[in-house]
Amino acid sequence: MRHFLTLKDFSKDEILEILSLAVKIKRKAKKGKFNPYLKDKVLGMIFEKSSTRTRVSFEVGIHQLGGKGLFLSTDDIQLGRGEPLKDTARVLSRMVDMVMIRTFGQDRLEEFAKYSSVPLISGLSDTYHPMQLLADYMTICEYGKDKNLVAAYVGDGNNIANSWLMLASKIGFELRISTPKGYEADQDVLKNAYEFAKKSGSKISICENPKDAVKNAGVVTTDTWVSMGQEDEKEKRIKYFEGFMIDKKMMALAKKDAIFLHCLPAYRGYEVSDEVFEAHANEIFDEAENRLHVQKAVMVWLDRQRKN
Ligand code: CP
Ligand code: NVA
Repeated sequence: MRHFLTLKDFSKDEILEILSLAVKIKRKAKKGKFNPYLKDKVLGMIFEKSSTRTRVSFEVGIHQLGGKGLFLSTDDIQLGRGEPLKDTARVLSRMVDMVMIRTFGQDRLEEFAKYSSVPLISGLSDTYHPMQLLADYMTICEYGKDKNLVAAYVGDGNNIANSWLMLASKIGFELRISTPKGYEADQDVLKNAYEFAKKSGSKISICENPKDAVKNAGVVTTDTWVSMGQEDEKEKRIKYFEGFMIDKKMMALAKKDAIFLHCLPAYRGYEVSDEVFEAHANEIFDEAENRLHVQKAVMVWLDRQRKN
């Protein structure tokens, strides 16, 4: 049985297989056709952090696949009052067919998976957001930017930056990362990415100056400077991140036809200017929509793996 906790556990072929299934599912959905691949299956969705896209796309996604989603906020379930994760995993495994968790430490996902007898999906942790990156790559391919791709990530070395490292090093494209000092991507993730890059041919570079990262890039991306759980550091972070905003001047350094992606929610005037955001709104909201299609594909793929 396979879980979906990080792209680290997936080969390039598996990632491309899931994406090709997502493309098929999206094409059909656009014609109003929804194959009930997961008829009567139930997805438990545990949220230890807030969400708009992840919650809605999983709930709509499982519904369109013929199943049902259960929204389980830790404000409401016993997990939030201290019931052990391993007990929650064993109870849910006996009642639902798949579980999605949005949580803090990646170790919480691993602990749940250890005790779960149904597939577990990450809906974000402090370390990774793998679903987001599948949606991002699907969007990149739709815009025809996957050939000779050079991507630039400018901003916080957070779960999104770490996930870009995993995606690039598995798929084999060039990724340049620029973060302020003290806010670098996870060093273990970086080490793994360099290892995977040897096989895939990906070029990973760390740029001190964000302008060097963006120069001639085909895809430019960023994320909030203040992730969920870091609210107390907001003032300090805003100071340290000066010069890392993707504004018109920064974007002008990228290729003329470069696209700009943002996982959302976006904070205009901080990591991205309103002008850049609105100029690239089509790409950004296609990216958000693609969460729905890739997540349906992942759920179907995991279910098939279980049967094989
Ligand atoms: N991008 C993303 O995961 O959004 P939510 O936090 O709204 O789920
Ligand atoms: N880095 C952000 C991503 C939100 C989708 C966070 O963890 O809050």
